[in-house]
Amino acid sequence: MGGGASRLVDVLVSRGWDDLTVLDISEPALAHAKARLGNRADRVRWIVADLTEWHPDRAYDVWHDRAVFQFLTEPDQRTAYLGALNQALRPGGLAILATFAPDGPEKCSGLPVRRYDAAGLSAQLGAEFRLLRTFREVHQTPGGVAQPFAWCVLERSADKAG
Ligand SMILES: C[S@@+](CC[C@H](N)C(=O)[O-])C[C@H]1O[C@@H](n2cnc3c(N)ncnc32)[C@H](O)[C@@H]1O
Repeated sequence: MGGGASRLVDVLVSRGWDDLTVLDISEPALAHAKARLGNRADRVRWIVADLTEWHPDRAYDVWHDRAVFQFLTEPDQRTAYLGALNQALRPGGLAILATFAPDGPEKCSGLPVRRYDAAGLSAQLGAEFRLLRTFREVHQTPGGVAQPFAWCVLERSADKAG
């Protein structure tokens, strides 16, 4: 989710994963990733959409978001995001999320962000999700700026009742 031009999809394709979807609001970012993958881009479903307005047409095993949820500064945006997540992720599926940590930058790409620690990020997903793992990563941007991230891995209850 919000994969943009990131190389995660390249790694997953090269490791043999074959049911991959990359969604991003930016068509140019996805075009960049597709061009980089060349004919391997056909192994991926590419969706240009605003995540807060997206209605998934199928269920997924894993939801991965690095540095998108943090842009949702308004409660209704976060509600819409969580609605999409809950529609898209099958019961028993995994949600992997990362945002800037509390000591991370206050802005990303010039836009304000909400920063979370792992407990706060995990709490956003609600009681239906069980926190499996958290970790902190200090990402170095190509420009040499340190960006501390809080990561969470959560499992959605396999039981619809939670
Ligand atoms: C900071 S970049 C992170 C890109 C990638 N996930 C990574 O970690 O390298 C944020 C990405 O989220 C996308 N994005 C921001 N708001 C979005 C939204 N509402 N719906 C879908 N994508 C969004 C941007 O276009 C951009 O590609």
